[in-house]
Amino acid sequence: MEAARLAEENGRHIIHMEVGQPSTGAPMAARRALADALENNTLGYTVALGLPALRKRIARLYGEWYNVDLNPDRVVVTPGSSGAFLLSFTALFDSGDRVGIGAPGYPSYRQILKALGLTPVDIETATDNRLQPIVADLAGLDLAGLMVASPNNPTGTMLDHAALGDLIAATQAQGAAFISDEIYHGLEYEAKAVTALELTDDCYVINSFSNFFSMTGWRAGGWWCPKTTSASLSVWRRTCSSVRRMPVRSRRWRH
Ligand SMILES: Cc1ncc(COP(=O)(O)O)c(C=O)c1O
Repeated sequence: MEAARLAEENGRHIIHMEVGQPSTGAPMAARRALADALENNTLGYTVALGLPALRKRIARLYGEWYNVDLNPDRVVVTPGSSGAFLLSFTALFDSGDRVGIGAPGYPSYRQILKALGLTPVDIETATDNRLQPIVADLAGLDLAGLMVASPNNPTGTMLDHAALGDLIAATQAQGAAFISDEIYHGLEYEAKAVTALELTDDCYVINSFSNFFSMTGWRAGGWWCPKTTSASLSVWRRTCSSVRRMPVRSRRWRH
């Protein structure tokens, strides 16, 4: 991104294929609420899993968008999806675990996994499969987890109910964790994106205010839905906020 910035400074027109960023600003209500909070609120720490009212509202959003009954207790608020990646990777996997990611895909998945001592496994996708992984790609990969994004970055392609359901079933059959990055939900053209939560509770959903709500630079309001939350996850969530480099934990929040 720095190389692109320098080129832009020198007058080059760059088409960004690394991060997705809406051209619009944040919604007026969010800007007003922030201005008000800066003026009237100390903006201190919150409880580790996020403000209960925000967790409830995020769960309600999934009800409104997808008619799913998401228990607010499952919603953990993070600093953007990026915070949710750190939290979910460290909570779900052990050092060295293999995590499948579609290629092409969002470049930071690979870097974050590597930085945490995990092994990113590129799954080369085919145009015939709309540049998304398919069940046959998973054979013999010995994965501890599979991460998909639908709509994907940079391709924008989506997984429909059947394709997403097949991938979830195949991942579960391997005993691996299925992580669905839903950050581009709401930015669709012909069909509505499908949330993994429509198909199973046995999945981990990541989303954030960055794209649909045009708040990429705010570094606020990401969320992660594990299957359950607990006091120890709450402690770990707090640790992840204040510590940059951390040891990878055991799979204690997986089941
Ligand atoms: C697929 C995908 N997931 C996550 C992110 C980062 O999300 P956040 O800004 O919420 O950390 C991006 C940013 O471009 C992305 O393309």
